[in-house]
Amino acid sequence: MRIAKDRKAFITGGGSGFGRHIARRLHAAGACVTVVDLDADGAVAVADELGHRALAVTADVRSTADMVHAVGMAENTFGGLDTLVVSAGVFHIGALETVTEREWDRTLDVSLKGAFITVQAAAAALRASGRGRIVTMGSDCGRRGFPQQAPYTAAKFGLIGLTESVAAELAPDQVTANCVCPVGVPTTGMGQEVLNWKVQRTGRSPEEVMSATARTNPLGRNADEDDVADAVLFFLSDHAGFLTGVTLDVDGGARLGTVPGVR
Ligand SMILES: NC(=O)c1ccc[n+]([C@@H]2O[C@H](COP(=O)([O-])OP(=O)(O)OC[C@H]3O[C@@H](n4cnc5c(N)ncnc54)[C@H](O)[C@@H]3O)[C@@H](O)[C@H]2O)c1
Repeated sequence: MRIAKDRKAFITGGGSGFGRHIARRLHAAGACVTVVDLDADGAVAVADELGHRALAVTADVRSTADMVHAVGMAENTFGGLDTLVVSAGVFHIGALETVTEREWDRTLDVSLKGAFITVQAAAAALRASGRGRIVTMGSDCGRRGFPQQAPYTAAKFGLIGLTESVAAELAPDQVTANCVCPVGVPTTGMGQEVLNWKVQRTGRSPEEVMSATARTNPLGRNADEDDVADAVLFFLSDHAGFLTGVTLDVDGGARLGTVPGVR
């Protein structure tokens, strides 16, 4: 995949999971990378690992002041910003009647409002670059409703709408915005959280749960971090310049139907 070597990337949630993996892949492709995370240790560890062309910024995506500051740091350090990956997010699982307002607010504040604040803070720099790219990290929960995930599902459906609106608004300045929607990947922070919940719920071992998940996927395996990073990097590559407002499922065909009563 051809990615311009001088990309200046800004990745929220870059201290862990998909964000960290995408930071590594972009950096290996020659990009300057600003790793933004609420978890200072996580962000610093990733930036230290990457070495030159990497900057760690501790920031809360729920705070406009934090994100404006983080974007300013990235611009001052690397001379601009043309690539934004919105990966910061939090998960909540629990029966409808048990969800507290606090849990609803936290899930929506980080995963949806945080994405809005991030894009808003970076918009001027992305426009000024003349080649801006935004990828938001959606979820299969943004494509269909799952039980016990009302706040997270609402946030991820909203994120797709946000991405489409931003795509339409920034297109005249040659900024694209696309959303990648992965199924569960058990190796990341959030993936572990979901796996632990399934283990508790079913009484099976993590290995049993993972092989059951793989068996029920049309392609017969679990997704990994590279499957997700490949899709993100595609949208950031020179091959995707005419794609915007697209939602791409990285799910092994999990959304596909079966003939009712036959399977
Ligand atoms: N892992 C999965 O199975 C999966 C599946 C579908 C979608 N996703 C989405 O992918 C994204 C990344 O998930 P992950 O599995 O890599 O999770 P992760 O927990 O490994 O990483 C998320 C990062 O976001 C950071 N973060 C949390 N709140 C923040 C805040 N307020 N401000 C700044 N940073 C904050 C965390 O510190 C963490 O480093 C999320 O948006 C998630 O919804 C994950």
